Amino acid sequence: MAEAGTPFGSGAPLPLTRALESGRTSPGEPAQRLERLHAYFHEGCPEDVWPALADVLLRARTVRNGFGSGEVGDHFASIWYAGSAIVELAAALELDEADVRGAAAAVAEACALPLPAARFLLFTQAAGHPRLLELPPLVAVEVQLNLLLGLHVLADASLWRRTTSGMECVLTLGGPAEPSRRVRAEAKAVLRGRSRLSLLGGSQLRSAAVTRFGQPHAAIVGRCGSVEPDVADAFLAEAAAFLGSILEREQLLEHSSERERTLVAASERRLMRLGFDLHDGPIQDVLALAADVRLLQQQVYPFVLADHREIAYGRFEDLTAHLVHIDRHLREIAHSLETKSVLSRPLGEILHREVDTFADRAGIQAALEIRGDPDSLSSAQRITVFRAIQEALANVREHAGASSVEIRVRARRSAIEVQITDDGMGFEVERALAKAAQRGRLGLVGMGERVRMLGGTFQIESSPGGPTLLKFTLPRWEPLA
Ligand SMILES: Nc1ncnc2c1ncn2[C@@H]1O[C@H](COP(=O)(O)OP(=O)(O)OP(=O)(O)O)[C@@H](O)[C@H]1O
Ligand SMILES: [Mg+2]
Repeated sequence: MAEAGTPFGSGAPLPLTRALESGRTSPGEPAQRLERLHAYFHEGCPEDVWPALADVLLRARTVRNGFGSGEVGDHFASIWYAGSAIVELAAALELDEADVRGAAAAVAEACALPLPAARFLLFTQAAGHPRLLELPPLVAVEVQLNLLLGLHVLADASLWRRTTSGMECVLTLGGPAEPSRRVRAEAKAVLRGRSRLSLLGGSQLRSAAVTRFGQPHAAIVGRCGSVEPDVADAFLAEAAAFLGSILEREQLLEHSSERERTLVAASERRLMRLGFDLHDGPIQDVLALAADVRLLQQQVYPFVLADHREIAYGRFEDLTAHLVHIDRHLREIAHSLETKSVLSRPLGEILHREVDTFADRAGIQAALEIRGDPDSLSSAQRITVFRAIQEALANVREHAGASSVEIRVRARRSAIEVQITDDGMGFEVERALAKAAQRGRLGLVGMGERVRMLGGTFQIESSPGGPTLLKFTLPRWEPLA
């Protein structure tokens, strides 16, 4: 995985590819193809991906069982496994072209298939994998195009889609950053429902339409790689069929993100108003009270007996210091309610600040661990992550009686995961939530709502005696192009 420091695409041959080159995948018992293929992937992948691969292996065994085991089942399950493993790798890393080729060669060898057949099978398994739909659409598109390049089907590839004002290039890989006029013209022709390829004679350009309700909605265009044009066309037809559902999902996400932005903006506006109310109400009251105390001090002082003056002075000083403390605290709260402060600086920085302030104030040991890059989140997601952690920490301070709390933020390519664990007394979740709701306490319920609003999942694991684990996951999404 990128965060594990072994990014695919770094140019250096991966262990995956090296293992293949050194012939460690020599044929064994036919009925163990699946296990050998797994050993090959396992050895070549960073540790971070191992749990996902183990999961894929379990599912592949189920697939094999579905065939009533035997050789055919082992064959099919192996191909299924390799396709799924490639997608898991792509979800975690930048999948290198050499590794796609390595995987195809491993499938060919394990299943005793001609390489072209193994390539096609691997492609259809990987490119149509449902797991791709969990990735941000742009990443899923990138994985598909990378597969086409990695398998040498295309030498370069670009995806175009129809817009209200014409068309736009969503992604281009392997070729110049600015696609040539010829490529553009071909994309335009495909989107109009007529490919120009027949007019181009011996052109190496290949294309396919991604349709929606029977109409061309997007176009894949690229120069043919080291395969025959009709082989490239077969791959492109498959790719176009799979890209249809990815682009469909992108459209749905775009609609719901519009709604999500409105909802988040509305709840942020409420918080901002609360911040202003706090500033105009309680903070001003505290300032007035501090002024009164100072006045009282001056008025009372002359009447205090000389022997008691020092004590009286100390008491007044304590009182003033206390008021200064309340004032600072209220201002901090008012400030933290401002959305601007959440969006103006890197998320890592504001989370660290929030956690440090919490540890100082609450006297509870707090550790924050961030993996991956949380800054590529949408503003709605950043706000949600911040507010949810803020609320979870408030609960730890108010209810948990904990001595330490651990906050883990993990920004993956497909999702951002947050876990907050405290070693406090724990609670009966269902009952506490029902009781809190009756009292108009909506911390946890509100947190869950915010997360679900962004299409995420939210979970609390706790029982009397503790510990308490609160975790949520938000799917990543960035608009195409
Ligand atoms: N970390 C925790 N440890 C122990 N109990 C907790 C923890 N978090 C929440 N609770 C329990 O769950 C209840 C509901 O929490 P919730 O945040 O919804 O409301 P609240 O904190 O009581 O009020 P509000 O958040 O609205 O100020 C709490 O009253 C508390 O009993
Ligand atoms: Mg609360």
